[in-house]
Amino acid sequence: MSHDASARRTALLQRLGIALPLLQAPMAGVQDHLLAVAVSEAGGLGALPAAMLTLDALAGELTALRASTSRPFNVNFFCHVPPTPDPARESLWREALAPYYDEAGIDAASIAPGAGRMPFSEAALQAIAPFAPPVVSFHFGLPAPELLAGVKRLGAFVLASATTVDEGLWLEAHGADAVIAQGLEAGGHRGHFLDTDPATALTRQMGTFALLPQLAAALKVPVIAAGGIADAEGVAAALALGAAAVQVGTAYLLCPEATTSAVHRAALASEAARHTALTTLFTGRPARGIVNRAMCELGPLNPAAPAFPLATTAIAPLRQWAERQGRGDFSPLWSGQNARGCRAIPAGELTRALAARL
Ligand SMILES: Cc1cc2nc3c(=O)[nH]c(=O)nc-3n(C[C@H](O)[C@H](O)[C@H](O)COP(=O)(O)O)c2cc1C
Repeated sequence: MSHDASARRTALLQRLGIALPLLQAPMAGVQDHLLAVAVSEAGGLGALPAAMLTLDALAGELTALRASTSRPFNVNFFCHVPPTPDPARESLWREALAPYYDEAGIDAASIAPGAGRMPFSEAALQAIAPFAPPVVSFHFGLPAPELLAGVKRLGAFVLASATTVDEGLWLEAHGADAVIAQGLEAGGHRGHFLDTDPATALTRQMGTFALLPQLAAALKVPVIAAGGIADAEGVAAALALGAAAVQVGTAYLLCPEATTSAVHRAALASEAARHTALTTLFTGRPARGIVNRAMCELGPLNPAAPAFPLATTAIAPLRQWAERQGRGDFSPLWSGQNARGCRAIPAGELTRALAARL
């Protein structure tokens, strides 16, 4: 590792106030403050995902988090532009799902819109202000300049994900204090935001160990590696390639502090986890998950799936129906390409194991 990379890592850890260069990836839908607390208490940076929480629930989670640890933590938001509903596409999608509704005995006309995912907003800024989160991270770009300025006025260090060198340069120029290099191996949603057409955006994205050294060379701000890193050797390799720290998501999914569902846990622990793919079926934005029945039969990037986050509504009752029978056929089984590091051990223990080669 160069002297420069080592100095950037030390400066980042000092600024974040953490002992280990390990960030737990925020993972909406599969965790609450308990996972964040466990990782922060172990010396890493725990994260609380806010994208699927109401503002009241977010305040509750932050209260519980603050009561459980005095260590730094990260609060994470999405910053997508909510789409205009497209009735023609929605009805094409309902037609594609009709045979499954029949099989499950579901009356398609009775499906109510789901909770969806909310982008960062002025109301969210007001909700987090009393808690002065030390770190705030964003997925899908950055919020509007006045909102970002508000976050910085709280004293927060700002992180955001890049999937290409161009996105990293954009984030640095628009105020990110550090950039997460999200390689194509990563589980969950792709963070791309400059090119939103899935066909072109996805074909341009790179694996973690191609993206990371290019971003580290191009940017002045520290770069954090994410995607497919699931053991101590992977962490050491990412640091050797210029990462100031590493962000790990999938490996934490079997920890008892995570709220990962039973079908998701079973899939991660099975041979099915060897096969993941990018899919838009569950939310409308490409995200990586374990290949299941819906992805095989409908095609993982089916163009009829409504835009993010509207696709969630139509598939939700099928998910509930299948999960009641112990099947993940219609569930978003988010996972990165490397689920080998998933271990059903306390998150603090896993954090220390990931740091074993530093
Ligand atoms: C189950 C799951 C949910 C995720 N949810 C979020 C999220 O809410 N916000 C976010 O910024 N990233 C989210 N991600 C992506 C992670 O931030 C990160 O890029 C990824 O986990 C790193 O790759 P890995 O899973 O191979 O470790 C999620 C990832 C997973 C696996």
